[in-house]
Amino acid sequence: MTRLAIDPVTRIGGQLRIEVDLAEGHVRDAWCSGTMFRGLELILEGRDARDAWLFAQRVCGSCGSAHALASVRAVEQALGLTIPKNARLIRNVLLGSLYVVSHIVHFYHRQALDWVDARSALEADPAAAAALAGSISDWPPSSTSYFADARDKITRLGTQGQLGPLAHGYWGHPAYALPPAANLLILAHYLEALDWQRTLTRIQTLLGGKSPHPQTYLVGGMALAPAWTGPSRPLGEHPWGTERTSPAALSPDGLAEIGALIDHATSFVDRVFLPDVLLIAQHYGDWAGLGTGVGNYLSFGEFPEDDSAGPELLLPRGRVMDSDASTMFEVDQSGVAETVAHAYYDDGNDGALRQPWDQQTVPRYTGPKPPIITLEGSDEYSWLKAPRYFDDPMEVGPLARTLVAYAAGAPGVRTSVDAVTATLGAGREILSGTLGRTIARAIEAKVVVDRLPAWLADLKANLAGDLAVVDISKWEPGSWPSETQGWAVAESPRGAIGHWLKLRGHWVDRYQVVDASTWNVSPRDNRGRRGALEEALVGTPVRDRDQPVEILRTIHSFDPCPACGVH
Ligand code: NI
Ligand code: MG
Repeated sequence: MTRLAIDPVTRIGGQLRIEVDLAEGHVRDAWCSGTMFRGLELILEGRDARDAWLFAQRVCGSCGSAHALASVRAVEQALGLTIPKNARLIRNVLLGSLYVVSHIVHFYHRQALDWVDARSALEADPAAAAALAGSISDWPPSSTSYFADARDKITRLGTQGQLGPLAHGYWGHPAYALPPAANLLILAHYLEALDWQRTLTRIQTLLGGKSPHPQTYLVGGMALAPAWTGPSRPLGEHPWGTERTSPAALSPDGLAEIGALIDHATSFVDRVFLPDVLLIAQHYGDWAGLGTGVGNYLSFGEFPEDDSAGPELLLPRGRVMDSDASTMFEVDQSGVAETVAHAYYDDGNDGALRQPWDQQTVPRYTGPKPPIITLEGSDEYSWLKAPRYFDDPMEVGPLARTLVAYAAGAPGVRTSVDAVTATLGAGREILSGTLGRTIARAIEAKVVVDRLPAWLADLKANLAGDLAVVDISKWEPGSWPSETQGWAVAESPRGAIGHWLKLRGHWVDRYQVVDASTWNVSPRDNRGRRGALEEALVGTPVRDRDQPVEILRTIHSFDPCPACGVH
């Protein structure tokens, strides 16, 4: 048995150390360690609850918007506030478009290089890449000269010493299975997606004021002023002159601009993202059974489709247990608890599972001190706590949401899953493990991007007669109870998140977050059971311990963000 450490893991958010024990070319055991403490829960104590979301969204630089949403929802839940329909739809468009950007950036810029060999791409025939592109999609940039330019650009970056993320790959590794033309095709789209994501992120800036960390959430709704003055005017007639200026988001011009960006996103998902992911799936069939993990999947559900207290959700709430997607179990926030038995926190040394309202964050570092650089022999080894759902370790994220939605019979998800499995000539079991997480992310991008135009149309129609974007009836703290508590769950692009808070008047007395990566990257629990990523790594084949690309595949398939996970 030999110990192998990867630290820091790159192409993720935050600081992550992975240690594995290797024997006979396979991972026998694994440990995930979040190596940085952050303390956002403590920073939130003593704050005005109406400001909490501004701090809470600093949990993450990629999915902060989802944490802002969970935070305002938690305060709204404590106060019994129902937000206006316009606010619900704006939040759906904000979060939904974030899913699409996040999933595409994750695939191309964080995960693709685990499947795509850059050295092989440089040896590809651009004409072969053009022929392959034409055979899988009608996306226009697909000529021989387009792929020749992409190849030259990558070569140039290399010779100028500016290879950046391409500089230290395990190029030429025998685990890479794509033909040269496919490697060039996806690497060209890697470059294209850099521009593309900058364009689509404009939806975040139009509705959120900035990105990351939007500024327009508000307890009770959204802080956006509708400018609904009737039919749109040509820009030249605006009082501020003929300069190209962003229109007010909630105006006919603003919604038209967002609509055009959604069309652009839909095209990219249908014609670039999905075909590229399917191309990878076709060449990596040997990964279908690898990296499965705990086999328990949790989704809190997201995208309320109506304004009732228990709304229909585009992506349903539920659990799938023991990898059996034929049955869906219910989910309630009261089932969430955390243990710090193997984390760097003081809990009176009992290691017990505690629900978030009873949970505290008391840092107590007991890990290795320099020059020791191993987790071996450390009983406590991570700044992440270990969440469990009624005692069970759970996986969260796009695969979990997709399996739960399929089990629940959600029509959009069923159609997309069935289309993908038919294209691949595979059964639904392809939706598990490392490859399944990669495919599910693309399926989910498709489901959400297909739904965005309906929310936008609904918003436009509703604004014609109803301009309410916020309920300010509880804004003055004089109307608040002297003590109360609230909770909210949400689904960030990376998976299920929950915020729990206790209030004294309008001041935050206690604040606890359980993030998607807290679930996925969790250390062992009080019964010694591994977290989802730790479990998924066990059994991974490793051809060359100096170039463990197979381990990276499984790590990146979770899109882990231990910075979020620790918060
Ligand atoms: Ni994050
Ligand atoms: Mg927490």
